[in-house]
Amino acid sequence: MSGPQPAAAFWWTRDDLGFIEGRLHLGGRDLGALAAAVEGPLHVVSEARVHANLSRLREALASSGCPTRAYYAIKANRFEPLLRSIARTSRWGADICSPNELDRALDCGFAPADISFTGTAVANRDLERLLAEPDLTINCDSVGMIRRIGERAPGRAIGVRVNPERGTGYAGAEKLTYAGAAVTKFGIYRDQWADALAMARAHGLSITSLHFHVGCGYLSRELDAWEAAVASAASFLEACPGVRTVNVGGGLGVPHREGDVPLDLAAWSAVLRRRFAGRGVTVAAEPGEYIVKDAGVLLLQVVDVERKKDVMFAGLDGGFNLAPEPAYYELPCEPVACAPRSLDTSTWRPVSLAGNINEALDVWAHGKLMPELAEGDRIALINAGAYGASMASNHCMRGDFTEMLLPA
Ligand SMILES: Cc1ncc(COP(=O)(O)O)c(C=O)c1O
Repeated sequence: MSGPQPAAAFWWTRDDLGFIEGRLHLGGRDLGALAAAVEGPLHVVSEARVHANLSRLREALASSGCPTRAYYAIKANRFEPLLRSIARTSRWGADICSPNELDRALDCGFAPADISFTGTAVANRDLERLLAEPDLTINCDSVGMIRRIGERAPGRAIGVRVNPERGTGYAGAEKLTYAGAAVTKFGIYRDQWADALAMARAHGLSITSLHFHVGCGYLSRELDAWEAAVASAASFLEACPGVRTVNVGGGLGVPHREGDVPLDLAAWSAVLRRRFAGRGVTVAAEPGEYIVKDAGVLLLQVVDVERKKDVMFAGLDGGFNLAPEPAYYELPCEPVACAPRSLDTSTWRPVSLAGNINEALDVWAHGKLMPELAEGDRIALINAGAYGASMASNHCMRGDFTEMLLPA
């Protein structure tokens, strides 16, 4: 039998995530011990990793050579201690998409002028709440929304979300692409543009910001497609001299599978430089996933281990309802044993990790090579920091979980 694998053998390890003396640690904390101190599923986020991600992205934005703004998309993870930490100790604002998110952002310390709203199917009651904040940036997703703002707040400054008919997402997946060949509900299309401008003019609204968000989870291999989308969106600027800010949305991804090459931020920033430097606009971004996804894990317990026919199953005490992205979007969470009996991967055997929801699709991983598992073991699902807790449901009334921010 060969010796233990060095931690670097696992694609997901990094300085603050890996095995120390055989036990999985995040930000210097023993995840199995943290899980054991709590009853039931536990969502954990590392404050230090979040701030490292914020700083790295902020620097990349700055190196575009343009004036910049940055908004954290709170839909990705709206845990209050996390939001308070971002509002208090970073120069980031908040991207929101609902009145409740507005209230959450304000409660957690973001100033209205540092909050940007981009939503879809926005009701009049939503608008009334949003318009009560004169300093809020509101990006309109339809010509009708421009009209309804004009009727309520003539003369206001607005942003417009455009659909550049180009886009991309993780591995080019259609479900993660918000603008492209398929018509989507997002943004105002080029053939509506003249109507949008006329509607704004009719109500004395000034369009000061141009917004687009063309997909989620893109990595370096998708950057050419992303640049094509940026170029297409940038061409909307020509008819709109009042635009002061171009918001390029979120969508920046993190590796989910072995072999995924991380997003090259220098190349990302170079796209912004090529498309916007010298054009007199501020470039804004509003990422969610990039900031929090790899900073968080979902900790579950093995409750049942049994071979069924030729498949070894390990049943866990939490299902896809606690982190729905793997089931919805095929963006896997990597399962890792918190205290593996052996780190020698040659001894590992395929196991299917099943959740506790009565749906056949509720399997975290099929045939995953894992160390021997037993009842009571703890499993960390890594990359659960974004769209895990925030998308969780109470399906089968198994929606209970604890959230924890690991202090930096
Ligand atoms: C308008 C808008 N901005 C930002 C985001 C954040 O995206 P991500 O978490 O992929 O960065 C989303 C996500 O759907 C969005 O719809």
